[in-house]
Amino acid sequence: MDDQVTRISARKDEHLRICLEEEVQSDVPTGFDEVHLQVLTLPELDFDSIDSSTVVFGKKLDAPLLISSMTGGSGKTRQFNQQLARAANEFNIAMGVGSQRVALVHDGLEDTFAIARKEAPNALLFANLGVAQLNEGFGLDKCKRAVDMLEADGIFIHLNALQEALQPEGNRNFSGLLNQIENIAKALPVPVIAKEVGCGIDPQTAKLLVDAGISGIDVAGVGGTSWAAVEMYRQTDPVRKALCQTYIDWGIPTAQALQGITDLPAGVLKISSGGLRNGLDVAKSIAMGADLAGFARKLIIAAHNGAESLSEAISLIMLELKVAMFLSGANDLITLRTRLVK
Ligand SMILES: Cc1cc2nc3c(=O)[nH]c(=O)nc-3n(C[C@H](O)[C@H](O)[C@H](O)COP(=O)(O)O)c2cc1C
Repeated sequence: MDDQVTRISARKDEHLRICLEEEVQSDVPTGFDEVHLQVLTLPELDFDSIDSSTVVFGKKLDAPLLISSMTGGSGKTRQFNQQLARAANEFNIAMGVGSQRVALVHDGLEDTFAIARKEAPNALLFANLGVAQLNEGFGLDKCKRAVDMLEADGIFIHLNALQEALQPEGNRNFSGLLNQIENIAKALPVPVIAKEVGCGIDPQTAKLLVDAGISGIDVAGVGGTSWAAVEMYRQTDPVRKALCQTYIDWGIPTAQALQGITDLPAGVLKISSGGLRNGLDVAKSIAMGADLAGFARKLIIAAHNGAESLSEAISLIMLELKVAMFLSGANDLITLRTRLVK
């Protein structure tokens, strides 16, 4: 492998290690404690008939859940993708892989992402690339290759300005990207979804992205994994460390970011993520107008503890969601949307 590839792979493994071992959770609340579902003391529902299924991009899911984009690009992260995809398959929920950049600049790594499709032949799977790569010569061809690599149903383009600003090796040329996103969204045969990585997407940018042809927005707001904290643990230079520390809580809390995109047209896929703790946060997200709810670090920690622990974590989230639906008298997700206390 050449130097650049080794560096990207090593950085990804280091990010993963830090996310598993260090305290990288933002102290800022997501805001979901201030969001309330209507309480229906006598729900007049049979709990067992509650249906949490949904259809996204033509695929039916058993619950509106997404295993957010995280890994791939090294032997170790291949195992995580395998495990996460098995769970996506078992529970019939959606999954994203981590940034595929490394597999597009080096030949031997496609399988570390493609394993997700092998393990989850029918699941709703999302490819992933960073927006900064669009200014590094990654055009339509590379986006298509990323999608083809796992026969993806769509692709996340992650917008990670803070992370790139903090990394000494970051790509900080973010000029002209909206135009590039527009060209790709118009030409790719699958939906393109914009996501943040834990700082939230502001309503004005969300609207510009939708006008540019984006099919969905994943707010990935503040309240969960802080990439400034992750980068802080990587830096040895005191100036860089202090810079990261300053920005640990930067961005828009998840519930507020989600609120900011609820006015977008119904056809735009809206994803709530960033610090979601449980199925009650999922229920609140759906009631606010989200179509899907994503979990990242919580599930990679569960996966790290073994397949059983991952299954337990997802079963619990699904059960918590159903209990929320029961207690607010919602037998399906459409009814849950009417159960927000305003
Ligand atoms: C170990 C790890 C690796 C990640 N890698 C990526 C990535 O490659 N691409 C991406 O779009 N987001 C990546 N993320 C960000 C997540 O998709 C998510 O937006 C963020 O962690 C907030 O969710 P959380 O609070 O549930 O962790 C990663 C997150 C973790 C924990």
